[in-house]
Amino acid sequence: MAIVTSKEMFKKAYDGGYAIGAFNVNNMEIIQGITEAAMEKHAPLILQVSKGARAYAKHVYLMKLIEAAIADAEQSAGFDLPICVHLDHGDTFELCKSCIDGGFTSVMIDGSSKSFEDNIALTKQVVEYAHDHGVVVEGELGTLAGVEDEVKVSAEDSSYTRPEEVEEFVSRTGVDSLAIAIGTSHGAYKFTAAQCTRNADGILVPPPLRFDILDEVSKRLPGFPIVLHGSSSVPQEFVKIINENGGKMPDAVGIPEEQLRQAARGAVCKINIDSDLRLAMTASIRKYFAEHPDHFDPRQYLKPARIAIKSMVEHKLVDVLGCDGKA
Ligand code: G3H
Ligand code: 13P
Ligand code: ZN
Repeated sequence: MAIVTSKEMFKKAYDGGYAIGAFNVNNMEIIQGITEAAMEKHAPLILQVSKGARAYAKHVYLMKLIEAAIADAEQSAGFDLPICVHLDHGDTFELCKSCIDGGFTSVMIDGSSKSFEDNIALTKQVVEYAHDHGVVVEGELGTLAGVEDEVKVSAEDSSYTRPEEVEEFVSRTGVDSLAIAIGTSHGAYKFTAAQCTRNADGILVPPPLRFDILDEVSKRLPGFPIVLHGSSSVPQEFVKIINENGGKMPDAVGIPEEQLRQAARGAVCKINIDSDLRLAMTASIRKYFAEHPDHFDPRQYLKPARIAIKSMVEHKLVDVLGCDGKA
């Protein structure tokens, strides 16, 4: 099977009340852990590459590794694993063009920090080039708080999506999906202690997502796929392992999984997860080093890290996204 766009995936996800997982990839073990989970669970998949990931690993390595994962699925499991390869947070036309020319089937142009008119102009330019090349485009309205590579947006500078803008944005740009801001946030520290309450175990409980905004957006764009960024749950078991093995991540907090499941039942067709992959991998490696201080072969600690990613992704596919068995 060739790499596919997300068009068909989103249509089925919208109608079926589930979401596709969009997982960020940076190296071989992460790609293998995610794709092995998708193979096991027969789940359609979006592998996404940020500008930083592309700079770290190089476009060609990531592309070849993804092609290898698809070939492996066919050979070892006899299974056509549908994978969409997506540019995450493209910030210029040139970056989007380079990914389209280099074989990606989907790009995000993130003009969310620009004015409404500038966001429309840039997004429309990307859509025209992408559609001419059979590639789909995700746009964004509203600004998430948190950290993405070089960009840090404080909670005060973040802004929810304004539902009254979405129809005009979609019709004037021609985008295929729309990322919205309803209270999710990038990274492992999504909320400050002041924004949260604490449960009996002293763990931060974040404010609920703004489902009222999501409902209003979906009413205005019936049948149209919505995307949620910043949707890691920051599992506390990983944070605990990290903190018990030399790490220091106080008050790391994410989006409760039941709220993501609720979003996936509605118009949300793509849910972005990166930080949870990083946490699974880091927790595994920290624990391994603490238990085996004399080991130094990267295969020894990367193998359990890859397994940790695989089991975390399996859990997401089944219990959060609901996309198992849909490939
Ligand atoms: O939204 C951001 C993603 O987590 C990618 O992060 O830019 O550090 O690769 P990155
Ligand atoms: P997290 O930091 O919550 O994993 O968000 C990832 C993301 O939105 C990638 O675009
Ligand atoms: Zn994002």
